[in-house]
Amino acid sequence: MSPGNGPGNACDPTRDCPSCFRLVEFRYASRSKFPDWHNAPVPSFGPINARLLIVGLAPGLKGANRTGRPFTGDYAGDLLYETLTEFGYAKGVYRADPEDGLKLSDCMITNAVRCVPPENKPTPAEIGKCRPYLAATIAAMPRLRAILVLGRIAHDSTLRTLDRRLAAHPFAHGARHELGPKLALFDSFHCSRYNTNTGRLTPEMFKSVFASIKDELATL
Ligand code: URA
Repeated sequence: MSPGNGPGNACDPTRDCPSCFRLVEFRYASRSKFPDWHNAPVPSFGPINARLLIVGLAPGLKGANRTGRPFTGDYAGDLLYETLTEFGYAKGVYRADPEDGLKLSDCMITNAVRCVPPENKPTPAEIGKCRPYLAATIAAMPRLRAILVLGRIAHDSTLRTLDRRLAAHPFAHGARHELGPKLALFDSFHCSRYNTNTGRLTPEMFKSVFASIKDELATL
């Protein structure tokens, strides 16, 4: 069974999750246009006993929504998987294909919203409807020590999931927020095409966040 074809569980929505009317309509339109694509909620990728969880925004239409693996085939995935490989969190060669054999090590990747939203913009209601899956994923990770959020939407949704005050933890690239004695939240600008093309996020800026996470995990 390929990822995302399963019956669903607390951590991953079913393939035909009916929660968000707009996203369901978009999913059906994409299924009829591109019947060979995944076109369903994209499940998390990586081992559940990882110490690091990366939270993205939502699958890209022609990327994760097509391939069924977070960031796979998305422009943002090129920098993400390259960086994960450099820091030892991914083993193998990323080929933008879920069959490339790439394995994550001590790291899991998920999205704040599991279905592709039109124009990459989920509504606040859609983010809220998908939050129970993020909450269940976090709760199911027994060794979780660090969460890396990519962008403000992932940041806010993660804090809400964990019942933390947003005002106490403002989003800032490179910021580290203490969430408990054994849990830290790291912020990065999203590694989107827009952010990297405009220079808002350079590969060096992205790597320096991973260097901080590596240091954090080395001390635990
Ligand atoms: N692909 C994903 O899976 N998530 C993002 O946030 C961006 C691209």
